[in-house]
Amino acid sequence: MYMRSTRSCDVLIIGGGSSGLRAAIEAHDVGANVLIISKNKKGDPHTVLARGGINAALGTMDPEDNWIIHAADTLREGEFLANYEKVEVLCKNAPDAVNELVNWGARFHREKDGRLTQRFFGAHTYRRTVFYEDWTGDEIIRVLLDQVSQRKIEIVEDVYITRLVKSGDVTGKREDPNEIAGAFGVDLKKKEIVRFECKSLILAAGGYTRVYAVSSSRIFENHGEGVALAYEAGADLVDMEMVQFHPTGMVWPEKAVGTLATEAIRGEGGILLNSKGERFMKNYYPERMELGPRDIVARAAYNEILAGRGTEHGGVWLDITHLSKEKILDRLPTMYEQFKNLDGIDISKEKMEVGPTAHYSMGGVVVDAKCRTKIKGLFAVGEVMSQIHGANRLGGNSLLDTVVFGKIAGANAARLVEEVEERQKAKQSSLEPNLNSINNNSNQKEFVDDGLFIVEEPIKFRNEIQELMKLNAGIIREKTRLQNGLKRILELKKEFYSKDNIIKEFKIDDENVVLTWEVKSSLIACEAIIRSALMRQESRGAHYRSDFPNLGDEEWKVNIYCRKEGREMVLFKDSVKEIQGPLADLLKVHIKAEHHREFE
Ligand code: FUM
Repeated sequence: MYMRSTRSCDVLIIGGGSSGLRAAIEAHDVGANVLIISKNKKGDPHTVLARGGINAALGTMDPEDNWIIHAADTLREGEFLANYEKVEVLCKNAPDAVNELVNWGARFHREKDGRLTQRFFGAHTYRRTVFYEDWTGDEIIRVLLDQVSQRKIEIVEDVYITRLVKSGDVTGKREDPNEIAGAFGVDLKKKEIVRFECKSLILAAGGYTRVYAVSSSRIFENHGEGVALAYEAGADLVDMEMVQFHPTGMVWPEKAVGTLATEAIRGEGGILLNSKGERFMKNYYPERMELGPRDIVARAAYNEILAGRGTEHGGVWLDITHLSKEKILDRLPTMYEQFKNLDGIDISKEKMEVGPTAHYSMGGVVVDAKCRTKIKGLFAVGEVMSQIHGANRLGGNSLLDTVVFGKIAGANAARLVEEVEERQKAKQSSLEPNLNSINNNSNQKEFVDDGLFIVEEPIKFRNEIQELMKLNAGIIREKTRLQNGLKRILELKKEFYSKDNIIKEFKIDDENVVLTWEVKSSLIACEAIIRSALMRQESRGAHYRSDFPNLGDEEWKVNIYCRKEGREMVLFKDSVKEIQGPLADLLKVHIKAEHHREFE
């Protein structure tokens, strides 16, 4: 047996990364009592790995830039799959969001005259990416944590959330069974089950790229927990086939495989070479070379490797030796250290060996522009949210979306609290059972089954899933492989839940508790990725089908949704909302199919 405890708050935030922290600050400022849950230690979320920068059309380097051009670049990079209204919100609010971080103490790089420096990232029309050396995410976390601590917002560390609880799961609770009521988690330090009760809940639990064997996420991150929690609670997922492969992850040594070599290296002038010393991007995207769209650069590198022009460890070369060591140490100091410590090379003198790595999930939970899911009181933000980046994300837009939409989610979740309280008061006066009476009745609390279990050797499942995703649903996809991948995922799902595999007695101190739950989540994410990839019979952005190598016509200007119906995952399509207003006028000139090149 194990101990149980209960915590209550107004707004519960699952995730201690930049989106969770920014949401917490706003919810607190609107007046809510906020609790942040983090499975990692405070200050060590996935955001700290975000390297190269955060975008805003500030025009400090290129005064011609403005939010409409930023939005057009975002939509174009995403091959017009994103929701343009969300993109407008993102880009319009970007300058304020970055200035707010500056006012809170972010030490972004400045020119000698004091202007914020902005550098190029791939597929941007202008220099737009603001940065702190090459560890911008870490700097943003430092600043946000400072704000969180000034407000005395509590962060509960080492708690792994396993399930969202809806009011319908608890007898006599709020009248609407489709309304969020809290979550279950395992406190990994205290070794107890924690039940959280809340009036609204913000899911800021990251993406799903760690379902791939080669990923820029650390091994304990991004197994799809966020999408799985929301999906199981009844929220819809969308664009799950859209997984971004960053062109430059480390390929050597073994322990470093997948680790990001930031796009800022190319932004600062780094070039890509194959084993013959050829600058191969001239054959794929002569217009912008290494600063072309991420999907094109990643597939080009992959293609060079497949064609036998790769390096000894299965990569390509990334060369920045033409820059002075002084500039490298000023702009890319962690890259300098990373390659020195992990690979034993001096990047001011030697080339880096790199290749594609699963980096970002464009797909995620369906929300509206206020970050609301279809479950009342459940919000999603950050990488777990969807339809901002479409089929491919512009580098530098992810840190931006965390702060812009974090603020929006926090404000809306906090405002909902008042509404819930009003309803509770009304109910109390009519003497019906309500949240408060349940809070005082421990027997009723036990009514909700925590559903916890562990399985035999979850590591075996994880290893197989990661390899099969790389092989069957990776950077280049095709029908037979996708079908094989799906077949095996469904078999693994069956094995995972089989009676023989589930250990009879749940032990909270078992080392496999978290691993079991990571596998459980990744099985949902993988099924959704592959089913959606099979359905999308075209190539668009990060989703490349060698059997359908061209961008589809109007028929494919659709988002693909996944919904849980009983035990089944059901898919359906819906049209992308047509772009209106000034953005539509600007884009008419730019819509082009040039992003689509066939590969050898
Ligand atoms: O390469 C990078 O620094 C990644 C940035 C991003 O994905 O936005």
